[in-house]
Amino acid sequence: MSVDLSPIDKAKFVAAKKAAEFVQDGMRVGLGTGSTAAWMVRCVGEMVREQGLRIKGVPTSTRTAELAREVGIDVVSLDEAKWLDLTIDGADEFDGELNLIKGGGGALLQEKIVATASDQMIVIADAAKEVETLGAFPLPIEVIPFGWQTSKALVEEMLISMDVLGQQSSLRMDGDAPFVTDEGNHILDLHLKRIGKVRELALVLNQVPGVVENGLFIDICDKVVIGFGDGRVEMRDIHEGLTSEEQVQFLETDNLFRDLDGE
Ligand code: A5P
Repeated sequence: MSVDLSPIDKAKFVAAKKAAEFVQDGMRVGLGTGSTAAWMVRCVGEMVREQGLRIKGVPTSTRTAELAREVGIDVVSLDEAKWLDLTIDGADEFDGELNLIKGGGGALLQEKIVATASDQMIVIADAAKEVETLGAFPLPIEVIPFGWQTSKALVEEMLISMDVLGQQSSLRMDGDAPFVTDEGNHILDLHLKRIGKVRELALVLNQVPGVVENGLFIDICDKVVIGFGDGRVEMRDIHEGLTSEEQVQFLETDNLFRDLDGE
């Protein structure tokens, strides 16, 4: 079978495949959400089916839960697992300190809870996600539907005194209706352009009534596996910096590409 992936999908796939090597027998593993994380779930599923790997997977969204079950992973809730050995997830942006913007897929709340309840978080990303300063990607925040317009106004007002370049926000839509998260909330995307003080902003945003959580992941990620379109992967560790560079083969994994629905 020939595998015809775009360079960006190859990059996502090789990052996911490399990160899956960190999953060991007996682990409780947080399973992220998004197109890169979906590759990881498929890779881990293949390890379960073909190598007899035994793990418990805690998904970060209903769509990841569905995919995980489909590929053969034993899915449990976070409350059943209680604490996790490892979470692997994608990101929308990461900086040199491995701080992240997440939530492009709308699953930031469960993603943050799961990653925080893990001994280790590994982020998988294509090289385009690396930035010097976070903020070009709109920062998602999850707000409860009650009074969301008031919450939006309060957030925009608060942003005036923050070290950011933009203060506008928009309600995320799903066609003609507001996007609804797994928790029944909405998402506001903050068009900040550049975030000067990420720690401060992450704390202050959560003080606004109606805001449930924000997509800034500060001091949560331990390692980033960066994939490139030519099959190379680079690993960065929060303590050790660049730890390795290698080439990942993907043609050998034909099974994985069967029945792909182009997620
Ligand atoms: C999901 O809510 C997000 O946090 C994703 O992890 C993030 O948007 C990355 O998604 P992709 O891997 O699809 O780019």
